[in-house]
Amino acid sequence: MAEQVMEEKVTVLISEEEVDRRVREIAKKISEDYAGKSVRLVCVLKGSVFFTCELAKRITVPVTMDFISCSSYGNGTESMGRVKITKDLDEPVKDKHVIVIEDIVDSGRTLNSLLALLSTRKPASLRLCTLLDKPDRREVDVKVDYTGFQIENKFVVGYGMDFDQKYRNLPFVGVLEKE
Ligand code: PRP
Repeated sequence: MAEQVMEEKVTVLISEEEVDRRVREIAKKISEDYAGKSVRLVCVLKGSVFFTCELAKRITVPVTMDFISCSSYGNGTESMGRVKITKDLDEPVKDKHVIVIEDIVDSGRTLNSLLALLSTRKPASLRLCTLLDKPDRREVDVKVDYTGFQIENKFVVGYGMDFDQKYRNLPFVGVLEKE
């Protein structure tokens, strides 16, 4: 039997210019909010890499960066909502003003768990910044401090986000349509 090839099409949801404009606005707000302080940006790999870098370049208070990688524990009922750290931060966050940077908050499970974990490490402050938010999909509460765009429940790729590890390098946020 011939293998069936699934065609994928990506259409622009948020253009490169729109994302860039919003990133500048968020960076300005963060710079104002943290005036006189320095911030530790915690990039959640891999989807947040592009957003974290673009944001970091435009923040005018001193910035340090660190990276963490996590995956949710399967779909067993008992473990739902907990994350497994697959690459931990290199530096302690104790007494640091930490901003966790995400590409997207969906069910909220990853961020709910990650913020709970980081708060046990006693940062001076802990906030969350996400490029995209899908509030309709929320299953657990997460307080988002800085949001780029609220979007509908569509499968988005680009600007760091993937489908099967592809499309992360698109300079815009697109919607993936499978045909
Ligand atoms: C995405 C995203 C968040 C999480 C959000 O990561 O970057 O970490 O899912 O989903 P939630 O709100 O339902 O928990 P993903 O697992 O796709 O990994 P990636 O960033 O490496 O692509």
